[in-house]
Amino acid sequence: MTRKILVTSALPYANGSIHLGHLVEYIQTDIWVRFQKMQPKDKVAECWYCCADDTHGTPIMLRAEKDGITPEALIERVHGEHSRDFAGFHVAFDNFYTTHSDETRDCANLIYARLQKAGLIEKRTIEQYFDPVKQMFLPDRFIKGECPKCGAKDQYGDNCENCGAAYTPNDLKDPYSAISGAKPELRNSDHYFFKLSGDSCQSFLRRWTREAGHLQPEAANKMQEWLGADGENKLTDWDISRDAPYFGFEIPDAPGKYFYVWLDAPIGYMGSFKNLCGKQGIDFDEYFKPDSKTELYHFIGKDILYFHALFWPAELEHAGFRTPTSIFAHGFLTVDGSKMSKSRGTFITAESYLQTGLNPEWLRYYYAAKLNSTMEDIDLNLEDFVARVNSDLVGKYVNIASRCAGFIGKKFGGKIAATDAEWLIPLRDAAASIAQAYEDREYGRAQREIMALADAANVVVNERKPWELAKQEGKEAELHAACSEAIEAFRLLTLYLKPVLPKVAEAVEAFLGIAPLTWSDVATPLPAGHTINAYSHLMTRVEPKLIAALVEANKASLAPTEQAAPAVEKTEAKPEKVAATPAKASEADGAFISIDDFMKVDLRIARIVDAGHVEGAEKLIRLSLDIGEEKPRQVFAGIKSAYDPAQLIGRMTVMVANLAPRKMKFGLSEGMVMAASDSDGKAPGIFLLTPDAGAQPGMRVK
Ligand code: MSP
Ligand code: ZN
Repeated sequence: MTRKILVTSALPYANGSIHLGHLVEYIQTDIWVRFQKMQPKDKVAECWYCCADDTHGTPIMLRAEKDGITPEALIERVHGEHSRDFAGFHVAFDNFYTTHSDETRDCANLIYARLQKAGLIEKRTIEQYFDPVKQMFLPDRFIKGECPKCGAKDQYGDNCENCGAAYTPNDLKDPYSAISGAKPELRNSDHYFFKLSGDSCQSFLRRWTREAGHLQPEAANKMQEWLGADGENKLTDWDISRDAPYFGFEIPDAPGKYFYVWLDAPIGYMGSFKNLCGKQGIDFDEYFKPDSKTELYHFIGKDILYFHALFWPAELEHAGFRTPTSIFAHGFLTVDGSKMSKSRGTFITAESYLQTGLNPEWLRYYYAAKLNSTMEDIDLNLEDFVARVNSDLVGKYVNIASRCAGFIGKKFGGKIAATDAEWLIPLRDAAASIAQAYEDREYGRAQREIMALADAANVVVNERKPWELAKQEGKEAELHAACSEAIEAFRLLTLYLKPVLPKVAEAVEAFLGIAPLTWSDVATPLPAGHTINAYSHLMTRVEPKLIAALVEANKASLAPTEQAAPAVEKTEAKPEKVAATPAKASEADGAFISIDDFMKVDLRIARIVDAGHVEGAEKLIRLSLDIGEEKPRQVFAGIKSAYDPAQLIGRMTVMVANLAPRKMKFGLSEGMVMAASDSDGKAPGIFLLTPDAGAQPGMRVK
């Protein structure tokens, strides 16, 4: 039976940049799709890859407001940036759309109407925190306060970063709005709920999660946990509406009520595909009708499994659509064994990677070598990255062509001799097992098999030593055979690597003078007499210097940053604390600075003569610092999570006195105070420096 396949990656939020963590997913999906597209048409008739920006919700609304633009303008700008980044890493969507579209709105309205008709939507009045200054209901992440369990200050409304307790915003002590700082009031509001806990959803989900193939074993176990044992019902109904002001789709017949972003986000998969169907003449219903013979796969990160394995199939099922064939969840990216960190420079954006001049296919290969079909986290070890790419791609793979191609050109007019040697048979026979590994998302296994074949080819080349044959009389035929067979081995390796290295493969196809390689070309060796083109270098080695520059480019700046909304990225260390970042070296690759460099920093003893809260700032305290000048300096310091302004007044500390003044929305910041912190958040806290007794305001610190 010929397969028709629709594949998606999760829709990235439209208020953040694409980073190397995201790329795990998009590269993983792209490799799978490219592999499918290389299959013969009688096996895989079509395979479509759809994605979109996830454009709705409060964070996006607030972010646009902060930037002084409309949400529409924000999501359009970000769509351009995301498209550029994905293209830069050769992620080849058939459609990269937006959830802010007519198609998504129509699908959302239709699904909602059908769920309503099925009796699965219920209106209830709930009590929720309302920001009286900002005049809006506050999502959990925008309410902060004291943890009800451990008393830690400035914790988010849903869980405590200090003790890990989970709770609801109503449990917080002394809650305040993270947007305006105001004390929120509890107010009533009507919300719409999807009755997930009802019998029909529950029994459907039990059946669906147990059916083979929909979920990975670990995911199926998680689902059992979420569903509870048979007879138990752990599901709760899902609140799918939000009150105005909100950036999203207004619910039909419910003025002032909007679909919660997670209601329309997965529907964005359908919206994107529907848009593609319009452009390509594909039959949408063939893919989404209940008994569809087509396949639907969602690649996602493990953090959003709940939405994809519970809400989404239940929604589809009860709205009269097909359900996903499988959900493929992957783990999270760590860099050098830890969460990506802005202060260490390992929170690496896609854009900075490309701008630093690193080759996107290096990363594609490295991820492929590390990926498997489980939800385990994957580590980007920067040293190993350099070693692995240089040894595998340059040392093993490219090396075969670079050692043999020249002789074919120089000595044989570019013409290939017969390539039916016996040693090439195992290289061809490996096709089935490598294909199975790609199909099963065991890319690491596929790359290991391919590199073992490259090793075998190199052994043969080393034994025959074309560079020596070329110097000997009467060895022309031997030289011709050795080089031609090596080039055929290289063609096969290129074919196997093509899902991972699409641009290299393209260059090889041009070099070999052949049509774009498909999987069945395994069986068609280069024929004797075929002419190849001049070889030009295919891939350079990774210079460790480039990695150092990349890390440097991603180090958080020392400038104080104030965020209106919680960061959307999920694995980053907590937002950087002001004045807590170690000063970075002035030379990109030098580990040392000169004493002259150091003396450029004018450090002074300062007395805090006044300190106060800053309205509308989540992390800042306003300080007045006496450093022996006529007038105290004003400095905004990001130390609110650790200090009460009142307790700071009168204290001595150290400040950077010659930092260029910085205009912030709260006023001018004329320097920086020095404090220590563990930027990984492992040992939470910020520790202001204090000089020994006797130091006077204005004294130079050196
Ligand atoms: N907008 C939602 C998804 C809606 S899908 C209907 C979202 N967006 S996201 O931008 O935060 O993440 C997009 C995808 O990237 C998610 O699958 C997420 O798991 C993945 N990743 C984000 N950071 C990641 C890492 N550090 N490592 C691996 N994948 C990560 O969630
Ligand atoms: Zn706590």
